[in-house]
Amino acid sequence: MKASIIAIDGPAGAGKSTVAKFVAKRLNYVYIDTGAMYRAVAWAAQDKNISPANEDAMAELTRTLSIQLYYRDGQQRITVDGRDVSEEIRTPDISRIVSAVSAIPAVRNALLDLQRQMARAGGVVMDGRDIGTCVLPNADVKIFLIASIDERARRRCLELQEKGFVTDLEQLKQEIALRDKMDSERELAPLRQADDATLIDTSDMTIEQAVDAIITEHEKRYRP
Ligand code: DC
Repeated sequence: MKASIIAIDGPAGAGKSTVAKFVAKRLNYVYIDTGAMYRAVAWAAQDKNISPANEDAMAELTRTLSIQLYYRDGQQRITVDGRDVSEEIRTPDISRIVSAVSAIPAVRNALLDLQRQMARAGGVVMDGRDIGTCVLPNADVKIFLIASIDERARRRCLELQEKGFVTDLEQLKQEIALRDKMDSERELAPLRQADDATLIDTSDMTIEQAVDAIITEHEKRYRP
């Protein structure tokens, strides 16, 4: 039986990665977090003092960078040139610059190739902003996950507090709204629901309900 490909897109904080991880576990698939790959490039730029506004330097950086995803104790880890940056890519500083980094065509093209290679064998749940529209337009199941901005900010706030960051809910809301705007309005592969994607609003759903909704969609759509 050929394993399927599930694409999950949506704005920041809609619950994509949490839900995608559980869906992958239920199906015994591999979870691929493409946002982490953009964050890794943003981390490398910050580490090397390269401004995202300097597109030539960003293109050169992406060309020379080696980004690898691997799994340890069932958790996805990410390395940049051999250094594990899985925690460092999640800081508010990186969140602030990553949208600008992900709008750079050379960065997107390099990661696009990598993402397609990773999904080639099937049996993957990939989440991001442009998976159903651009990276894997032939995915067997496409989900567009959304939630209200208040709920998304609340979830991010809890997540950051758990990691020990001091956060202000209003500021977080503004940052999320700005990121949504940048991700949706960029020229190349903007955040957009694919015509054949199923919309799921997780505002009033538990994680389990959202996972069940995707598994049901998979059962409906996937014909091995
Ligand atoms: O899902 P995340 O918040 O970790 O994603 C970080 C940023 O990367 C997000 O602001 C937009 C960008 N991104 C993208 O442009 N395309 C993807 N497929 C995944 C993420």
